[in-house]
Amino acid sequence: MKQRKRRMLSGMQPSGRMHLGNLLGALDNWIKYQQEYDAYFFVADWHALSTNYADTSRIREYIHEMLLDWLSAGVDPEKCTLFIQSRVPEHAVLHLLLSMITPVPWLERNPTYKEKMEELRERDLTTYGFLGYPVLQSADILIYKAEVVPVGVDQLPHLELTRELARRFNNLYTAVFPEPQPLLTEVPKLLGTDGKKMSKSYNNAIYLSDSEKDVREKLRTMVTDPARVRRTDRGNPDICPVFSYHKIFSEIGVIDRVNTECRTAAIGCIDCKKLVADRMVGRLEPIWETRAEWVKHPKKVEAVVAEGSEMAGKVARTTLAEAKEAMKI
Ligand code: TRP
Ligand code: SF4
Repeated sequence: MKQRKRRMLSGMQPSGRMHLGNLLGALDNWIKYQQEYDAYFFVADWHALSTNYADTSRIREYIHEMLLDWLSAGVDPEKCTLFIQSRVPEHAVLHLLLSMITPVPWLERNPTYKEKMEELRERDLTTYGFLGYPVLQSADILIYKAEVVPVGVDQLPHLELTRELARRFNNLYTAVFPEPQPLLTEVPKLLGTDGKKMSKSYNNAIYLSDSEKDVREKLRTMVTDPARVRRTDRGNPDICPVFSYHKIFSEIGVIDRVNTECRTAAIGCIDCKKLVADRMVGRLEPIWETRAEWVKHPKKVEAVVAEGSEMAGKVARTTLAEAKEAMKI
């Protein structure tokens, strides 16, 4: 007998174009799991409001960009359900119900709450919505009775709260919600072209939607071992961000060659970068090809999320009915 697939759910905030760090850190996992699990992936546009409520001018554009990035990278609407959070209003209703049983200290002690507040000090994040961010995330997860949630370590406190809320609900009323498990992913932290962590805000990122010319130019001007100034200087690949790309994108033969020849100045940085640029372009080419197809048919992207949101809505309505019944509401 065929076993029922376990349900997986994950979401991302629409914050603009996705870069290679996002691909390796999250998207590649979604793509890996979409077949094996009954997978739901969504654009968390309400969550984006929690920190960006003051300027919503580009949010629709960001949603579309992100969907294009997902589809181009290989998230396959034939294999998983893709949707937009705000098109399934049941998330908001469950969020409200859960908020009734959420002690405020559980939210205040959440480490990401204080960290984000500190990090974005220029914004006023003393809002109700921002404090309740993890309750909304819990609703996102519980409304699908998701069993597995692929996330980065930074999201673990939110998953913990989700489990606590599921337990509290099940104890107070009747057992409706399974406790979701995080699926942590070993991610090599991808460096940016300046050697710092790749991030949109550092202006050091390589985007999935960059052109081949952009990618080659970004690599050409990328930071190397700063001590290696002349072609004849020996280099140290261990401290060179270009070499960190080789370790991710190149085959073992090239990695070994660069590792030895850099140290003896047998290879120069220009050639070394050319080698890694070719590999990176090779990795991105299928993504660019798929993207070109979707870009030609924006209505198809809309159709994918319309259908996905419809499917998600059906599941969400069933769970919400159970939750309301349990609460006698
Ligand atoms: N908080 C997540 C992030 O910033 C996004 C998110 C919202 C999410 N709801 C979710 C992730 C539910 C997993 C499950 O990355
Ligand atoms: Fe870095 Fe390659 Fe130059 Fe060595 S040869 S310093 S690994 S770019």
